[in-house]
Amino acid sequence: MNYQTLLVEIRNRIAYVTINRPDKLNALNAQAKTELKQVFEGMQTDPSVDLVILTGAGDKSFVAGTDIKELTELNQESGQAFSAGGQAVFDLIANLGKPVIAAVNGYALGGGAELAMACHIRVAADNARFGQPEVGLGIIPGYGGTQRLARLVGKAKALEMILTGDPIDAQEALKIGLVSKVVPQADLIKAAEEIAHKILAKGQVAIRKALKALNATDEMTLAKGQAEEARLFGECCASEDFQEGTRAFLEKRKPAFKNR
Ligand code: COA
Repeated sequence: MNYQTLLVEIRNRIAYVTINRPDKLNALNAQAKTELKQVFEGMQTDPSVDLVILTGAGDKSFVAGTDIKELTELNQESGQAFSAGGQAVFDLIANLGKPVIAAVNGYALGGGAELAMACHIRVAADNARFGQPEVGLGIIPGYGGTQRLARLVGKAKALEMILTGDPIDAQEALKIGLVSKVVPQADLIKAAEEIAHKILAKGQVAIRKALKALNATDEMTLAKGQAEEARLFGECCASEDFQEGTRAFLEKRKPAFKNR
């Protein structure tokens, strides 16, 4: 399919999704959000895709936020719907059921930081900047930022970032645990692929159950989360991957997972 705002390529079980509005620093307009929804809905059921790498076009920006032009006419009612609509797209990514790695190549501001946080793993180029500058526009983060930033880095740092609007650089993002790795920009996709290949070498039944179990930490108490973990653990034990993984270890050979 052809998209106006995205580039999509599938190679060796990885879907490479690039937000492609470099002249606007990849700001998310309505079209980009619609297309992200379409693409990720497709990825959910596409058997040729086991993992997604999401990045922005150009060397300056991942996503510099939601398109500020589209904010100006919002009122209370349409503003709430606007926020909920963006949340739904980002929830689709967070709950895709397959790993999504954000390769953050520059500005990840506002909706860009929120998009990166909806992904499961973040790798940053050394020029990455993360921030939630919304209060400077008279709004608050509305695509999950108030919730996900606090969960990822703790409430104290989230409050500081959201209330001041000040961005942090890649090294600080690494220090607070917002990203897993910082690499030179030229190595960014390679670094994301290195992580991807480690994940793809595992049984995908277990990978998908692990994603589900970890997502439960956002929704559940410890007791309910552990009950969910036990249920998913049981489902893993019913898979061929489990038989193969344990047998291969005991037979001192590499497992040949069939991902079922
Ligand atoms: N929405 C709409 N357009 C945006 C945008 C956004 N969030 N971020 C950048 N752009 C556009 C600029 O308007 C400009 O377009 P133009 O060339 O037609 O004038 C183009 O992208 C390049 O941006 P520019 O501001 O000239 O680049 P810069 O290098 O001087 O500054 C930033 C980069 C990221 C610091 C600056 O663009 C910025 O502050 N953007 C808004 C960030 C933000 O508040 N995001 C949260 C939104 S809720």
